[in-house]
Amino acid sequence: MKLEHLIRSRRNVKPQFFTGEILPDALIKCFLESAHWAPTHRYTEPWRFVVFSGDSRSLLGDFQSSLYQELTPEDAFDQMKYDKLVNTPCLASHVIAVVAKNTKTLKVPFVEEIAATSCAVQNILLMAASKEVAVHWSSGFMPESEAMKSFLGFDVEDVLLGFLYFGKSEKKVNKSGKRFSNMDEKTIWR
Ligand SMILES: Cc1cc2nc3c(=O)[nH]c(=O)nc-3n(C[C@H](O)[C@H](O)[C@H](O)COP(=O)(O)O)c2cc1C
Repeated sequence: MKLEHLIRSRRNVKPQFFTGEILPDALIKCFLESAHWAPTHRYTEPWRFVVFSGDSRSLLGDFQSSLYQELTPEDAFDQMKYDKLVNTPCLASHVIAVVAKNTKTLKVPFVEEIAATSCAVQNILLMAASKEVAVHWSSGFMPESEAMKSFLGFDVEDVLLGFLYFGKSEKKVNKSGKRFSNMDEKTIWR
């Protein structure tokens, strides 16, 4: 597929539309390998990933739903939201948490580490699109909380950029997608 077409036609697909098919780990590793080729200032390679597959998907569901229950006052508790937090990880074949590691080496500003990690995610998204694998990029529950970062094995100074849900989908997505403005409005030529 031509790169321009791939970039434009890649679409976010929510796990509710996944078929339940389990993808080979080797395919996920291939996506991760492409992440490793993102740009990286001074080769800090700040991207980190935690892969949930098989039974560990329910560990994620159990953890995020318990966190929701713990932090939500009884009168604000939403059973549907709770159930969604429990169940969504198992709708996917694999779920990957994406973290920008704050190496604190002071070699580069941390914002650049976040930028590099975001590029790594785009590599994954494009590779997945090229293999007709559906991906949903979600913030997840309380991505900024110490509890979530600690569950994933990271420090509070690290930044969790969300979770990538992978699966197969037969849903017809609008490949043209939508954007609410055009690039001219966001570009200054000097
Ligand atoms: C960092 C980040 C977090 C996101 N979190 C969510 C989310 O929690 N829920 C959601 O529905 N979409 C979320 N999105 C947006 C979708 O992944 C998707 O990109 C958006 O709906 C636009 O659709 P498209 O990617 O098909 O053009 C997030 C996007 C980014 C970049």
